[in-house]
Amino acid sequence: MAKVNHEPIVLDINHMMSDVVGFQYGIDADHVDGMAQAAAAAQHNVAQNRGTGWLGWTELPYNQKEIVEKIETVAARVRNEFDAFVVLGIGGSALGPIAIQQALNHLHYNELPAEKRGGPRLYVEDNIDPERMAALMDVIDVKHTCFNVITKSGATAETMSQYLTVSELLKKEVGDKWAEHIIATTDTEKGNLIKLSKEHGFEVFYIPATVGGRFSELCPVGLLPAAVCGIDIRAMLEGAAAMDARCKGDDVWKNPALLEAVLQYICMEDMGINVQVTMPYADSLKYMADWFCQLWAESLGKNVTRKGMACNHGQTPVKSLGVTDQHSQLQLYTEGPYDKCITFLKVGEFRAESPIPHGCEEFPDVAFLGGKSLNQLIEAERQGTEYALYKKGRMSQVITLPEVNAYTLGQLIYFYEMTTAYVGELLDIDAFNQPGVESYKKNMFALLGKPGYEDRKAELEAALKD
Ligand code: PA5
Repeated sequence: MAKVNHEPIVLDINHMMSDVVGFQYGIDADHVDGMAQAAAAAQHNVAQNRGTGWLGWTELPYNQKEIVEKIETVAARVRNEFDAFVVLGIGGSALGPIAIQQALNHLHYNELPAEKRGGPRLYVEDNIDPERMAALMDVIDVKHTCFNVITKSGATAETMSQYLTVSELLKKEVGDKWAEHIIATTDTEKGNLIKLSKEHGFEVFYIPATVGGRFSELCPVGLLPAAVCGIDIRAMLEGAAAMDARCKGDDVWKNPALLEAVLQYICMEDMGINVQVTMPYADSLKYMADWFCQLWAESLGKNVTRKGMACNHGQTPVKSLGVTDQHSQLQLYTEGPYDKCITFLKVGEFRAESPIPHGCEEFPDVAFLGGKSLNQLIEAERQGTEYALYKKGRMSQVITLPEVNAYTLGQLIYFYEMTTAYVGELLDIDAFNQPGVESYKKNMFALLGKPGYEDRKAELEAALKD
């Protein structure tokens, strides 16, 4: 495995501040200073409870030595034995694996010849669109496929329905050895999948009880698919540990996640900045924006504080790909309501250099591009967008990844997770539950006739008739 460059990611908040974007729309440094005590309390609470409750993810960079060894052994076996690796999971059990694969492997990984890939093709099936399952079956041969069923609860209808489909198919196609095609990633004790694993002898990886779905990318949920596809998971964990070291202190100006948390808290609570746009200027990072959207939305969108007071907290996360969405969403960002903060994800050095040839000399508005590179063009477009927003008094910030590699991604994941935990503290909400997604499940259970939901079924059927 090639050595990964260990450089820190950098957060530049200049265009968030009133001395740059103006007093009407920017944040005053005094305002941040005024929150120093609350910020320190948030940092202390998280630090004191590390590794416990729902903060198990804080320890993942340090406590997985044997797990990483087992993941690497199993990943090597999977690479040897299978042509395709299919993740069955949804939400926190899918978005991380998708984001990391897109960021760290070839952008057309599945289309590469096997010898260039070095691992099986990867599919992450995070939806139950019937056409999608049928389409998957058209491109894989289950006899040569390993399925990684990822569900912490073991009760997620979407994932378990996929499990039922796949296990039946495997039994038909490979007979007695069907269970060798399934790897389960689930809770250590609770849920159906752990029981099924014991019954059928599946290979199992565990999601610690203290790690919730959307905070699970750095445990086997994310590490196994990444290792199967040849990603340096040790470097990911080292990157996370490096970010953790930067987030140890309670000085808001020195701890990057704490600073970001305070800025976003001020945006939400004091400035009506209710939309958080993540704008990566790199295709490799586009699904990191999706991963972040879940983390931010599901963690912070809450209607009750920890003390039981009614509230409606949260900030709507939006994914916007640079430069593509300059041609669709940017108009809104420069001229629409003053309710957005734009976070650029900038790449220092791309992994490819694409020169633009000279030509079209008769057309000066094309010819000027000749002799430049796509690398120069994409950064000029990012800077141009940043400056255009600045000229309109719009807040933005930049997170620079010196390069996109396993180490910088580990830092970015941990940075966002820690920021989210701090914002949860500042808002005094439970950032680790998701009660708002329970009612759709109950309605779906009722509609499909799950025992125990008879009353709700009657209510729903009456309502749906109208
Ligand atoms: O963040 C969360 O907890 C959720 O998004 C879950 O990851 C998602 O609902 C899937 O749950 P499970 O892993 O239990 O199937």
